[in-house]
Amino acid sequence: MKEAPRLKLAHLPTPLQLLSSVSEQAGRNVWVKRDDLTGFSVSGNKIRKLEYSLAKARSEGADVIVTCGGIQSNHCRATAILGAKLGFKVHLLLRGEEPEEIEGNLFLDQLAGAEISYFAKRYYHAHLDFLAEETCEKHRQAGEKPFFIPTGASDAVGVWGYVNAAEELKADFARLGIQPEHIISATGSGGTQAGLTVGTLLHDMPVLVTGYAVCDDEAWFVNKVDTDIRDWAEKYEIDVDLSRLKISVRDAYIGDGYAIAGKPIFETITKVFRSESLLLDPVYSGKAFYGMLCDIESQELHGSGDIVFVHTGGAFGLFAQRKEWLRHSIS
Ligand SMILES: Cc1ncc(COP(=O)(O)O)c(C=O)c1O
Repeated sequence: MKEAPRLKLAHLPTPLQLLSSVSEQAGRNVWVKRDDLTGFSVSGNKIRKLEYSLAKARSEGADVIVTCGGIQSNHCRATAILGAKLGFKVHLLLRGEEPEEIEGNLFLDQLAGAEISYFAKRYYHAHLDFLAEETCEKHRQAGEKPFFIPTGASDAVGVWGYVNAAEELKADFARLGIQPEHIISATGSGGTQAGLTVGTLLHDMPVLVTGYAVCDDEAWFVNKVDTDIRDWAEKYEIDVDLSRLKISVRDAYIGDGYAIAGKPIFETITKVFRSESLLLDPVYSGKAFYGMLCDIESQELHGSGDIVFVHTGGAFGLFAQRKEWLRHSIS
């Protein structure tokens, strides 16, 4: 096995807590892995992956980080803040028009001093590879050394973040004397799911990891997660039996599309906040949590054993959608 360079940036281990009110209503124990507490401004799942991506950038002598995502990308915000702290210049390629109001993650991107380029959605989707290369080339022409991190830091390097999180969960389970049947997380670019799926296999944990899709369908995620895992295993020469890999995706709760949440999602966010003081977001964790509750009720999440929900963060995205919450008039 080859060692991957790592920077220690996250507050780890994060707590694993029982959600007592949710568990009572669900009729089985539901735990939350508090990866929303990996930091404050740099909270959420991205920091675990960026510990590896930014270490690689540093080891290659890069001075500019180029990365990409939606206007309210948590990954871009985390990269902007960590990049600034580590002395990198950060250039973000954002999908969408520049909004009139600068809020949520976008405000923090600017507060951290990132350079931002905006691209119309269709153009971005059609030409992302070209845009990334063109931006890196501009930095090279300026005498800089760019390092590109793909969407969500979900690639062979980023897989390490949640392979380690799986090992951390194994220690949590042993300490608490529990043997959960399911691990649930939102899945957006697949890296968190890839790390958890292969990490639980590598660390011999008899638990099913299921990603709740927030954008693309099951086939897309199965392919993306499988590709990232195989790249990771090959690149780092990992001795793991990939024929035993089980990639589980639920794509029934995307609703009207990425970052569009309906009333049930905002109701779930409200209910969980009031009963558990847990802040979910309408783009990722709220959608996945809602899906998990529906699937517990319908028995789609088989068995009666414990369930662990990995809270991947995203709170700043909720602030950017406060008007949507108001529009749904939830009392
Ligand atoms: C808050 C939050 N949760 C979950 C995800 C999904 O994680 P991944 O991109 O690793 O699939 C993301 C990013 O896409 C995110 O920002």
